[in-house]
Amino acid sequence: MAAQGRQRILSGMRPSGRLHLGHLHGVLDNWIRLQDEYECFFFVADWHALTTNYEKPWTIPENIGDMVLDWLAAGVDPEKATIFVQSDIKEHAELHLLLSMITPVSWLERNPTYKEQQQQLKERDLATYGFLGYPVLQAADIIMYKANKVPVGVDQLPHVELTREITRRFNYLYRDVFPVPEALLTEVPKLPGLDGRKMSKSYGNSIYLNDSEEEVVRRISTMVTDVERPRKSDPGDPENRCVAFNLHKLYLGRERLDEIVAGCKAAEIGCVACKKELAAAVNAAMEPMRERRRALAEDPDTVKRILEAGAEKARAVARKTMEEARNALFSEPPPSEQADSGE
Ligand code: TRP
Ligand code: SF4
Repeated sequence: MAAQGRQRILSGMRPSGRLHLGHLHGVLDNWIRLQDEYECFFFVADWHALTTNYEKPWTIPENIGDMVLDWLAAGVDPEKATIFVQSDIKEHAELHLLLSMITPVSWLERNPTYKEQQQQLKERDLATYGFLGYPVLQAADIIMYKANKVPVGVDQLPHVELTREITRRFNYLYRDVFPVPEALLTEVPKLPGLDGRKMSKSYGNSIYLNDSEEEVVRRISTMVTDVERPRKSDPGDPENRCVAFNLHKLYLGRERLDEIVAGCKAAEIGCVACKKELAAAVNAAMEPMRERRRALAEDPDTVKRILEAGAEKARAVARKTMEEARNALFSEPPPSEQADSGE
């Protein structure tokens, strides 16, 4: 099918290494749906990782391959979407620089994630120029591909809003080069980790996309259930008190869910058996992912080749955009200025 006429999507992830079910349901499922409807660009934001990890930059490259492997295993399809690494396209750095010239510092300082992250990552010194400019680089990523839509979670909305402001400012100052992109808010289903806190690598409470069947069974067996139900003979309250039940809701059919709720409330089902059933359902859902991973493992160069092909496609678009951007700035004054000069 011709890509022409389809709207463009761009989204990225910082390379955090192997991904977990939170990423799958929060981001990747959505990307996989979008790649059929839109012309998609999905990229690894490795320069963004540098803004917070500049003291240990060598940890970044190894995470890239692992993460992209998870994307592919999950079903992100290089035949449908362009998959690439940010630092392979040096044009991002040039556009970032040009945009930095027109971005008021006050816009960046009032960005809510700026102060928040500085507070959260206290052990690192984030009073850097690069970290303040994080959203400017993100704006460059997005408008480089003239993306119409940017799928993001709520936490990233301020960044897309800043991108819109920076884009309007560029178009106003120079020429109408860039479409003003819109956020496509991704609804993230509630997916707590094994202990009930947010699923996160740093809490060690995750189920990873590359976990073996045995690991999934083992991890789910440790999952917190209704704590007011120490014995099977105590009636439970799955909907309000069981952490595991949030996963049940994602992986079991409506009918079986109703049976479990009834059985748990009537103290007829035990948590051990109930979580075994859950693990089996999670494993069944992960099987296609394991299958793709096995196929990908047959040729260790697959990821490298996919990223090279992706970079080539991305670079072609980026070069063209940069030519337009440079022209807009440097070739001649915009029509309004020409009229003013009067001769
Ligand atoms: N800031 C995003 C995150 O932390 C990653 C990112 C970088 C991104 N550039 C982007 C996301 C462009 C969407 C579009 O998740
Ligand atoms: Fe949760 Fe199932 Fe145990 Fe009920 S029986 S508390 S739903 S694990």
